[in-house]
Amino acid sequence: MERNEEFPQSALSQLETAPAGAAPPVRVVEMAMGNAEGERARLMQGLFRPRATIEPKYFYDPRGCALYERICTLPEYYLPGAERRIFAQHREAILRELPHAPQWIDLGCGDGRKSPDWVRMLKARRYVGVDIAKEALSATVRRAIRDYGDTEALGIVCDFSRSLDLRAVIAEMADRPAVFFYPGSSIGNFPEPDAIALLRSVRDHLTPAGRLFLGVDLVKDRDVLETAYADPQGVTAAFNRNVLAVVNRIVDADFVADRWEHRAVFDAQAARIEMRLVARESQLVRIGDRRRGFARGDSILTEYSHKYTVEGFGTLLASAGFARVRAWTDDRRWYAVFVAGV
Ligand code: AVI
Repeated sequence: MERNEEFPQSALSQLETAPAGAAPPVRVVEMAMGNAEGERARLMQGLFRPRATIEPKYFYDPRGCALYERICTLPEYYLPGAERRIFAQHREAILRELPHAPQWIDLGCGDGRKSPDWVRMLKARRYVGVDIAKEALSATVRRAIRDYGDTEALGIVCDFSRSLDLRAVIAEMADRPAVFFYPGSSIGNFPEPDAIALLRSVRDHLTPAGRLFLGVDLVKDRDVLETAYADPQGVTAAFNRNVLAVVNRIVDADFVADRWEHRAVFDAQAARIEMRLVARESQLVRIGDRRRGFARGDSILTEYSHKYTVEGFGTLLASAGFARVRAWTDDRRWYAVFVAGV
């Protein structure tokens, strides 16, 4: 591990060392993530609220990531398919809205599988994967180095649900505009003020040629929405319950997943799916050195997934300071893709 003086104090640049003859080192930069104690304290705070909550970012341990991958293949979970169809049907029009040879910032990149077509078509100068999960990110960057030829590739480990500051990284290639790619409607998992804050911080990184390119799930029929978040195979239920295993590890708790039932309800007023774990029986759970009783039917809120109208999301972008906005939808108007600039 080396200190890289090009980066500010808050960023520690790491070059993975490779044994002789092995693949070349991968550049993965860890941004300041807040301390683990603070994270634990926030998680505990949520669990001891009168209405207990667990932030959705805790879904994504390796098992949670694998379950989410499976969710994305379910016919009921229409979001990835709708997004792919918009990408295919409107590729040329979208390309016209994006700058040539940009720095491609893949926010929450996971395995980075949605980027390759765009990176190649735009001849991106650089691929920057951004994710909270360092191991998966290193693998994604390694693949990008292998697959993208002349495109430089690096990874930034950061929890951008808290703060996003990639200015030092982007400034290394100041002549190339940034495209922030944020597919999958992950913006919907933020409460509206936090969504605006994230959009605004993306906006603050953009020069006039830079763009935000993202996918957004739209408001639709309750049955379609609720089935997408409570599939008959029980994959989403397993994904939701898995968060308890993550919590057990982080705060040393003894939640038993089988004692909790998955529930996903569309609140039409708030235009969001609300995912909860509902206690199947009354129970006393040890959480760190404290205890919390849950009565049968008590619930823990684990996720909001906001659904927008095209107009409503346009207004959100405007309130975050975006001026140029273009949107495309699929034939059913179930999903939208936006490209926005300053
Ligand atoms: C990651 N995010 C966009 C998903 C969603 O649709 O809100 C997470 C998810 N939760 C249940 N199914 C999928």
